[in-house]
Amino acid sequence: MFFRKRMVEIYHDLLMEYICPGDTVVDATAGNGLDTEFLCRLVGPKGCVHAFDIQPEALENTRERLSQAGLLDQACLHLTSHDQMDVYVEGEIAGFCFNLGYLPSGNPAVITHSSTTIPAVKKCLEALKIGGVGCILAYWGHEGGRKEMENVDELLRTLPGKKFEVFRLENHNRANCPPVLYCLCRIR
Ligand SMILES: C[S@@+](CC[C@H](N)C(=O)[O-])C[C@H]1O[C@@H](n2cnc3c(N)ncnc32)[C@H](O)[C@@H]1O
Repeated sequence: MFFRKRMVEIYHDLLMEYICPGDTVVDATAGNGLDTEFLCRLVGPKGCVHAFDIQPEALENTRERLSQAGLLDQACLHLTSHDQMDVYVEGEIAGFCFNLGYLPSGNPAVITHSSTTIPAVKKCLEALKIGGVGCILAYWGHEGGRKEMENVDELLRTLPGKKFEVFRLENHNRANCPPVLYCLCRIR
């Protein structure tokens, strides 16, 4: 259930249900490594988390976090844009997550943009195995954020219903642009 939980906790709960030891997954926006660490724990030593970020500072924070947790071996950290994921990720993936916006306590001018977010989401969808899940959390209060969220919304809303099941969750009575969470499963 999602009451009294942060959006991140809600999608972590979902990922926990679907991601298994040994899986390959993608964290498209590594940031400070919160999601990467969580995914590393789910896939275990035989799995692999491909984590992407365009900011060296973000990947360093992620590396440090994983190193302290003893999880570095199950992660591949890529200092490149997530729309390049197909260059680095081979075969099917069991899950992916995007945490859109800017790096918490980082440079708020470096944000995710539709021009790379949309191709990256499409590539993740192409690689997603049947039964695999994806989560996209869109913060959209900053400049450009609304457009990006609308583009993600349009892409996911028009996915074929026979192949993907997509849910959209947001706090309906909270002010100040509450984040929107998209959760999807490839069903066929
Ligand atoms: C909201 S933060 C992610 C927070 C992260 N999930 C965490 O646990 O800390 C968004 C991140 O996306 C990164 N980013 C922006 N554009 C990107 C791109 N084209 N490819 C990969 N990462 C990108 C930013 O540098 C920033 O670190």
